[in-house]
Amino acid sequence: MCEKQESGDFRGQPRLPHFAAPRRYDLFLNPDLSSCEFSGSVAITVDVISPTRFLVLNSADLSIDATSVSLGGKTISPCKTELVEDDEILVLEFDSQLPLGESVLRIDFTGTLNDQMRGFYRSKYEYKGDVENMAVTQFESVHARRCFPCWDEPGFKAQFKITLEVPSQLVALSNMPVSEEKINGDGVLKTISFEESPLMSTYLVAIVIGHFDYIQGITSDGIQVRVYTQVGMSEQGRFSLDVALKSLNLYKDYFAVPYPLPKLDMIAIPDFVAGAMENYGLVTYRESALLYDEKLSSASNKQNVAITVAHELAHQWFGNLVTMEWWTHLWLNEGFASWVSYLAVDAIFPEWKIWTQFLDETASGMKLDALSESHPIEVEIKHASEADAIFDSISYDKGASVIRMLQSYLGADCFQKALASYIKKYAYGNATTDDLWAVLEEESGEPVRDLMSSWTKQQGYPVIFINMDSNKLHLYQEQFLSDGSSGSGTWIVPLTICCSSYDISKKFILKSKSDELDVDDLILHKEGNQETFWMKLNTDQTGFYRVKYDDELALGLKYAIQADKLSLMDKIGIIDDASALSVACKVTLSSLLSLLDAYSTQSHYTVLSRVISVSLKIANLVDEATPDLSGDIKLFLIKLLKSPAEKLGWDVKEGESHLDTMLRAEILMALVRLGNKSTVDEGIRCFAIFLNDRNSSVLLPDTRKAAYVAVMQHCTVSDKSGYESLLKIYRETDQSEEKVRVIGSLASCPDKGIVLDALNFLLTDEVRNQDAVYGLNVAIQGRETAWEWLKFASYEKSEEIEKFFASRMKPTFERALKQSLERIKINAHWIKGVRNDESLAEVVSHLVHKA
Ligand code: BES
Ligand code: ZN
Repeated sequence: MCEKQESGDFRGQPRLPHFAAPRRYDLFLNPDLSSCEFSGSVAITVDVISPTRFLVLNSADLSIDATSVSLGGKTISPCKTELVEDDEILVLEFDSQLPLGESVLRIDFTGTLNDQMRGFYRSKYEYKGDVENMAVTQFESVHARRCFPCWDEPGFKAQFKITLEVPSQLVALSNMPVSEEKINGDGVLKTISFEESPLMSTYLVAIVIGHFDYIQGITSDGIQVRVYTQVGMSEQGRFSLDVALKSLNLYKDYFAVPYPLPKLDMIAIPDFVAGAMENYGLVTYRESALLYDEKLSSASNKQNVAITVAHELAHQWFGNLVTMEWWTHLWLNEGFASWVSYLAVDAIFPEWKIWTQFLDETASGMKLDALSESHPIEVEIKHASEADAIFDSISYDKGASVIRMLQSYLGADCFQKALASYIKKYAYGNATTDDLWAVLEEESGEPVRDLMSSWTKQQGYPVIFINMDSNKLHLYQEQFLSDGSSGSGTWIVPLTICCSSYDISKKFILKSKSDELDVDDLILHKEGNQETFWMKLNTDQTGFYRVKYDDELALGLKYAIQADKLSLMDKIGIIDDASALSVACKVTLSSLLSLLDAYSTQSHYTVLSRVISVSLKIANLVDEATPDLSGDIKLFLIKLLKSPAEKLGWDVKEGESHLDTMLRAEILMALVRLGNKSTVDEGIRCFAIFLNDRNSSVLLPDTRKAAYVAVMQHCTVSDKSGYESLLKIYRETDQSEEKVRVIGSLASCPDKGIVLDALNFLLTDEVRNQDAVYGLNVAIQGRETAWEWLKFASYEKSEEIEKFFASRMKPTFERALKQSLERIKINAHWIKGVRNDESLAEVVSHLVHKA
């Protein structure tokens, strides 16, 4: 390859060439937190593997000052240094061939601590009354190159030795423990060196510099764990520290490998692009995803903190120790960490029944994957800039769900053993999806690769139609699409069936479009028990597919729900399938409503939570689809939720369960959104008390948002008092969770003038960029205004908005835009279907008026 190489060869390529690879980075950075500039130098030990005159690595947003390569005592400089902006690469051309083997490439550079929450950036916080900058890194997916020139692909693992020069009064953290710290001459600056890391990918390198407090603990095998927060807030890290210690203890057993580094730090960052980032040994979090305060935080926030911590710590093995070979296998990282986080949280908080909540993840994966503009789990990434676009519900939720499906198929023990040998085999290295299947196949003796490829290499999932005649089940699979059309995919589907009891069950693999199954053995006892007979496919919803039953089987399930014979997961699955099938016009709205009615005696959080989300979806639809019936339909939905809501009330009961607290928040919010007058009035009453006395026990964090939204329902341009009171609460709190609660309520006002005010508020300095998206939660009545506002804002603020789209949205934008357009079409199709539902009026009237 050597002689013909030219610098132009490296442009427009999906990946860096492999003729040279980094082994070790000696990185020095000197950030100035007031001017927000930084300078740095990196000495990279490069192994030249095949003859070349070029070194090609990544670099972006940096100015390169000097470059040289030294080998033994000899130093040479490149004859040409070219920064290719579009490809974010630095091409170094030398006069003659580089010697094979190791040389040291040295590069000096400068850059800016940006305000875009990626690369090496600044975050603002208050310290002793002044606003200060902290310096933070966020490198995933392809942003290490914005901090120092490097081979910025997950497959190029190397060791990192990091040294920083920072103001001597600040805390400076990185992946590894400090090895040496010395105050420089005049005492203003200090030089901090960190120990050399094991082999790791660039996207996991991290640095944080600022004023912080911490609390600490130690795991059973002696790993020091610290939680760092803004000064004065460290006690709010107590809960996450506890979850971290327990998760680490659990994972070292589960993966059968000890935690790979000497320490773990977790730190809350005031401006943060995601929820959290799993940097090796230094995990960064948005404040609301790490901090928990018994008095100030809601139960759902507590749960979110636990899940997030468990997720990021799972990555320390799955992702950091064993890393995806390329972004196509991102789902290995994210799907697995998501799935494992539920395993850990279930072990730590069994009373949360977190696996029933896992079905929310499955539901969002299925929702996205029912679009023709979805994508396969394993998706081709042709350019690094496409990587950011696949951090979506397919990689996370569908990924996690198909893992659950596989675990349930192979059995928990077999699955765990195989995972442990996979981790051991690829530790400190990289792996592909196929590598994982190979290990699982070997350990289980099952055809894992064929089975799983049908789920990871093609987009979408099936709906299984089942019909029973005499003692035969007729099964037929078809790709499920929300617009009611049917795609062409076929899957290998591990089916499970239960019949009238969870003890009477069967497993079956559906491999073709259709099949028949003898269920004699299952339904022997049907005779004489006609009334109590039910058959449920997809036991506990472990499979990533939907089921459409024939009328008789559907009726049987409805009775089983009324008689409360089914597991929580099955009850959730039945209503979720029915609601999705209704959107696709495969089930009428009238039968969906009758099915909902069968849930009227349910009281468990996760079941009602799903009933609530289906109800709100229907309520949104009927205003437009059938305005004549929408009042009655909402009456029915209110009736459905009213009795559990009344049992719960607005106040926390002494010693009540975590799940009841979660349910109260959701059910009151739903009743407010459905316009239930007594709930809205009570919310407004409680709010007035809370506004006068922020320490009052009247409106605790869980119910606060329902009250905020209630207040906004009555707010108008001529009486803005509610809006202004909420802003007052926003301005007086320093808690991120509370600020987000207010932002998420403001635009829920039916008055367009207020919606406009609320949207404009999002653009002020008072709202951090990370939080602004929560404010786009506009009331239906305000949508036109929001659109006008966006157009107006794009005119006035064209530069900011262009920057926003250009830097953050471009790669994700095209697919996301197509997905949004598809959703609009799906809604229109659903509306049409509902208008054609001839029995709707009669069914609604029956449901509303029956005792
Ligand atoms: N690796 C991601 C963080 C990330 C997301 C980096 C997008 C770059 C782009 C991290 O492990 C993660 O998945 N975070 C989640 C939280 C988790 C509980 C699902 C997040 O930020 O939402
Ligand atoms: Zn993750």
